[in-house]
Amino acid sequence: MFAPTRIYSGTPMAVLLTHAAQLLTLRAPHAGSGPRRGAQMRELGMVDDGALLILDGKIAAVGVTDEVAKQLPPGRASLEDIDCRGKVVLPGFVDSHTHPVFTAPRLIDFEKRISGAGYEEIAEAGGGIRTSLRGVREASTAGLAQHVLSALIQMSAQGTTTVEAKSGYGLSLEAEIKSLEAVREASRHWNGTVVPTLLGAHVVPPEYRSNPDEYVRLLCEELIPQVAGRELATFVDVFCERGAFSPERTQLIFRAAAGHKLGIRAHVCQLTAANLGPLLLFHPASLDHMDFVRDDDLPLLAASDTVATLLPAANYFLGLSTFPPARRLIDAGVAVALATDYNPGTAPTPSMPFVLSAACTQMKMLPAEAITAATYNGARALRLQHRKGSLEVGKDADVAIFDVEDYRELAYWFGVNRCSRTIAMGSSV
Ligand code: NIG
Ligand code: FE
Repeated sequence: MFAPTRIYSGTPMAVLLTHAAQLLTLRAPHAGSGPRRGAQMRELGMVDDGALLILDGKIAAVGVTDEVAKQLPPGRASLEDIDCRGKVVLPGFVDSHTHPVFTAPRLIDFEKRISGAGYEEIAEAGGGIRTSLRGVREASTAGLAQHVLSALIQMSAQGTTTVEAKSGYGLSLEAEIKSLEAVREASRHWNGTVVPTLLGAHVVPPEYRSNPDEYVRLLCEELIPQVAGRELATFVDVFCERGAFSPERTQLIFRAAAGHKLGIRAHVCQLTAANLGPLLLFHPASLDHMDFVRDDDLPLLAASDTVATLLPAANYFLGLSTFPPARRLIDAGVAVALATDYNPGTAPTPSMPFVLSAACTQMKMLPAEAITAATYNGARALRLQHRKGSLEVGKDADVAIFDVEDYRELAYWFGVNRCSRTIAMGSSV
């Protein structure tokens, strides 16, 4: 039976946060509503001695403590005062790429890789993504929901308040739907925001290996319509890569998703470069991994609102010596986001602060750029920028409080959790 360890009380509090050493609002008054690019990624909208007033789950006032304190509504009984002296307060992280619906770690693959096997070699030998299928297919919805909820709780303990959660380890009609039902069930017991994504096109499952087109037909004509009809997902994702789905099949799946009014995103350029022009015609919300991007695609990407979501925890865990080319992308004007890629094969981490550390040390992003990528641009990658990603009046009160005095410390410390409190929709998580 599904036994949640934590239940959302459903009663948003009135909360006043005061005297933050640094309050990072992520307001960039001149940036407009598009994703942040280039120099805009360094604008954190920082307020010293900052305060935030939260009423009924929304941000009601933000600014310096003296000014915000004056805006307290008289006679509000349940006001909680949080003294943030010596702390950094920022928008909760938006982890815009995760795969939390699985049942077990992949320890055999882990050891094989330590002994020298590569990602594709492990997959071809029957390991990799296909290893997780059996556990998911045999699990109950409640059992899967328990795994998802446990991941969500670990994520929020490190400052994350919005999580995109993909299916993708079921790879049959029933098991993909069950995975998305599990995401929905888990999200009812966590007061952050969960954005569900159908990743039925993760790899071709073994029973369709000799007939991948039939699997694509199943996705386009049965799975996508059913998921859309039951409102089980907001986005459809495709792993467009050698050994997974070709660009042509990816476009067929995108077309079906768009036909059912679902948003589009893709795993692409993780192992090999792809031609991004045809994919960009579908206006994907994000293209993720992006380790191998061609020079001639950079202007196209920079001219689009598609966010390039970089996932350095995967490179770290795979033991690679190369990382996504963040500097090249940012300097070309591409909007960059950062996410964990939480999954059992390539990135078993729930930690956005770890991702910030890897982004700065391995990809040469500045801490301010990494913070923008993990908040505002993450929200943009989920098309939630009107509600998430910055601390502005009227937005959801999703806040992370870190026990550090300077925002650069968010990316400096690693292997330790400095998040002292996470608030989602106005309530402590
Ligand atoms: O984002 N690249 C495809 N999907 C995952 C890996 C999933 C797995 O190995 O289980 C990723 O890295
Ligand atoms: Fe992924």
